[in-house]
Amino acid sequence: MGLFQAIVTIVVFSCSYLAHANGSGNDNGNGNGLELIKQEFECNMYQGKWVFDFSYPLYNSSACPFIRKEFDCIKYGRPDHLYLKYRWQPTNCELPRFNGKSFLKRFKGKKMMFIGDSLSLNIWQSLICMLHAAVPNSNIIRQQLNNNTISSVTFQDYNVSVMLFHSLYLVDVDEEKIGRVLNLNSMRNGNLWKNIDVLVFNTWLWWYRRGPKQPWDYLKVEGEIVKDMDRMVAFRTALTTWARWVDSDVDANKTKVIFQGISPSHYNGADWNEPGVKNCMKQTEPFIGPVYPVGLPEAVFVVKEVISSIKKPVHLLDVTALSQFRKDAHPSSYNAFRGMDCTHWCVAGLTDTWNELLYAALIA
Ligand SMILES: *[C@@H]1O[C@H](CO)[C@@H](O)[C@H](O)[C@H]1NC(C)=O
Ligand SMILES: *[C@@H]1O[C@H](CO)[C@@H](O)[C@H](O)[C@H]1NC(C)=O
Ligand SMILES: *[C@@H]1O[C@H](CO)[C@@H](O)[C@H](O)[C@H]1NC(C)=O
Ligand SMILES: *[C@@H]1O[C@H](CO)[C@@H](O)[C@H](O)[C@H]1NC(C)=O
Ligand SMILES: *[C@@H]1O[C@H](CO)[C@@H](O)[C@H](O)[C@H]1NC(C)=O
Repeated sequence: MGLFQAIVTIVVFSCSYLAHANGSGNDNGNGNGLELIKQEFECNMYQGKWVFDFSYPLYNSSACPFIRKEFDCIKYGRPDHLYLKYRWQPTNCELPRFNGKSFLKRFKGKKMMFIGDSLSLNIWQSLICMLHAAVPNSNIIRQQLNNNTISSVTFQDYNVSVMLFHSLYLVDVDEEKIGRVLNLNSMRNGNLWKNIDVLVFNTWLWWYRRGPKQPWDYLKVEGEIVKDMDRMVAFRTALTTWARWVDSDVDANKTKVIFQGISPSHYNGADWNEPGVKNCMKQTEPFIGPVYPVGLPEAVFVVKEVISSIKKPVHLLDVTALSQFRKDAHPSSYNAFRGMDCTHWCVAGLTDTWNELLYAALIA
């Protein structure tokens, strides 16, 4: 997507906001449509800072029945709760406050799907908790579909389904005679995804996995089988397969496409000026900016470049930089397994902010 295309997209989004702004859709109730349009032109929601806010978190995690034992930090004894009390404040505008009822009304009869690795699971769990908190007594149906590749939660009174499709690489891993082959040029599951109304993709975590945890034996690229290759090149190639699919198969009139940006981990204190620190244990406060010392991971630039090549509108949920500051928001050892996890995020917690940003992008 070139710059011109990007500007056109912003105009279209803004106008559709104006159309809603007079009705029930105006959730934050601050100012008129024109003011919002001006804000959107000037505002990058992803540029800002973390501010302390006693009205957070957005829900009580103990009352959310969906949280897996990997992410339920309070349940597994996390003693400090300050990490729940931060709100993301963009520099030039306000983030609309999340309104679960309004979300459900707006997406009535629609399906939304998160597609990717465990960070998709992480943000999906957070969104269903946020929606559940808005309508705790409504009928909610959980289902496993498509041979367990899809987990679905349907808010029946609104006919809204929020689904999760587990896929580590987006592209295919095939069982072949020689073994498991990661095919960088094929994305067969696209046929299941393309009729969904909102698609939120993510992949990154598994691209550098090696040894017994690597879930493939060979790579296939342009029909050729190789044992291994530069992993960043492999990532870029797979992402490009996804990008071409968006241009060829997604009906932009029906489906909104989001890419969930690279999620940072915190295993190296040198990244935040604490050399020698090996994980996120005992981190109870965010890094105080303005600039995160280590800078952005290289994969972020690959993601931005590939997305900019897509002709159809795709929104990058650009959460990397704002999440880098949140060394305090991981489970660390407060999960059912007591293992050190500085990759995922506590629910409630940071992924709620990702969903507030997703909500802002979807209603804009
Ligand atoms: C907005 O609503 C007000 C009051 O209901 C109405 O007078 C006005 O014409 C509406 N504006 C638009 C743009 O629909
Ligand atoms: C959170 O929910 C739990 C379980 O429903 C309840 O026992 C607890 O009092 C709630 N906490 C707050 C602060 O509302
Ligand atoms: C719910 O929405 C789906 C589309 O997502 C539609 O096919 C179905 O008819 C709707 N069901 C009801 C009861 O409205
Ligand atoms: C369903 O999944 C299982 C285990 O992953 C697999 O063995 C089986 O072939 C799958 N069935 C179909 C119909 O795809
Ligand atoms: C999308 O909508 C536009 C404007 O309404 C229309 O011109 C176009 O043909 C539609 N595209 C598809 C694939 O339906």
